[in-house]
Amino acid sequence: MNAVIYPLGHAEKELERLDGQASLLCDPSLEALFAHCKSCLEIGCGNGANLPLLRQQNRYTQYTGIDTSEAAIDEAFRRFHDSEDTRFMVMSGASIDLPDSSFDLIFTKLVLWSVGVDWPCVLEEAMRLLKPGGTFYAFEPCNHLVEMYPSKPSARRWMNQWDEAACASGLDPFIGPKVASQLNAAGFENVDSKFFPVIATGREKERYEAIVGNLKCFYMGPSAEALGLPSDGELRRHATAEFLEFGPESLVMDAFFVSRGSKSS
Ligand SMILES: C[S@@+](CC[C@H](N)C(=O)[O-])C[C@H]1O[C@@H](n2cnc3c(N)ncnc32)[C@H](O)[C@@H]1O
Repeated sequence: MNAVIYPLGHAEKELERLDGQASLLCDPSLEALFAHCKSCLEIGCGNGANLPLLRQQNRYTQYTGIDTSEAAIDEAFRRFHDSEDTRFMVMSGASIDLPDSSFDLIFTKLVLWSVGVDWPCVLEEAMRLLKPGGTFYAFEPCNHLVEMYPSKPSARRWMNQWDEAACASGLDPFIGPKVASQLNAAGFENVDSKFFPVIATGREKERYEAIVGNLKCFYMGPSAEALGLPSDGELRRHATAEFLEFGPESLVMDAFFVSRGSKSS
C-alpha cells in the first residue's frame, strides 16, 4: 500500500471542525440505513463526529469505528465509549483485522479521498467484512464542483492550488464520481451514485457562513502548509478576505457524491 500523508492532521481545531461538519453534511439516507442495521463499521471515523447523529436513529446498533490516527481514536473513545455497543480501534481501512461477514452496514465519510491510489482495497475489505445482503455507503468529495457566487477569484485560485498539490501528493479530492465504478469492480450489487450538493444562499446567513467557514478551515488550515502552500502572501490574504464576504446575493455550494452498493445475499 502506498503511504500518503494525511494533510488535515488531528489537532484540536481540526477535530472541532469535524464536529461542525458532521451536522452540516448529514445525509438522511445514511441515517435511514443506520436506523435499520444491527451492526455498523465506520472506516475513518475520526473523533466519532458522526456517531451522536446516527445514535439518534438507533440506540442499539453495535457500532465499531476505526481510524489510522491514534489521536482521533483516543478522542472518540474519550467522548463516546460509554457502552458495550460502541468500540473504537486504531486500524487502516485497507487492512482490517476483524472477522469476515461481521457487519450489516459499512460506511466511509470523507475518507477514501485521503487513502491514496490503493483506495479500492478499502472497498474490497468492506466486501469481505459485510454480511450477505449488507450495504456499503461512501460520502466523498468532488472539489472541482464547489461553487461560490459572486465569484471569489483569489479563493478559487487558492482552492485550485490546494487541489493540485493534493493530487500531486497522491490524494484525490475529485474522487466522488469514481467510487461507483470501483464498487462494481469489487463485486458489489445494486450500485448507485448520487450527486449531493450542500447549498446556502444569502437568505440563510448562518448556514452560508457555516458552509464557507468549513471550506475555509479545510483549505486554509494546517493542510495548506502540509501540502507546501505558502503560509502568508498576497493570494492567501485576498482569499481569506473573499471567504468572509457575504451579501444578500451570495450563494455557496459544497459538492459530494454518495455511492452505495450491496453484497449479494
Ligand atoms: C476528513 S476526516 C473524516 C472523519 C469522519 N469520517 C467524519 O466524517 O467526521 C478523514 C479521516 O480518515 C482517516 N483516514 C485516512 N486514511 C485512512 C485509512 N486508510 N484507514 C482509516 N482511516 C483513515 C483520517 O485519519 C481522518 O481521521
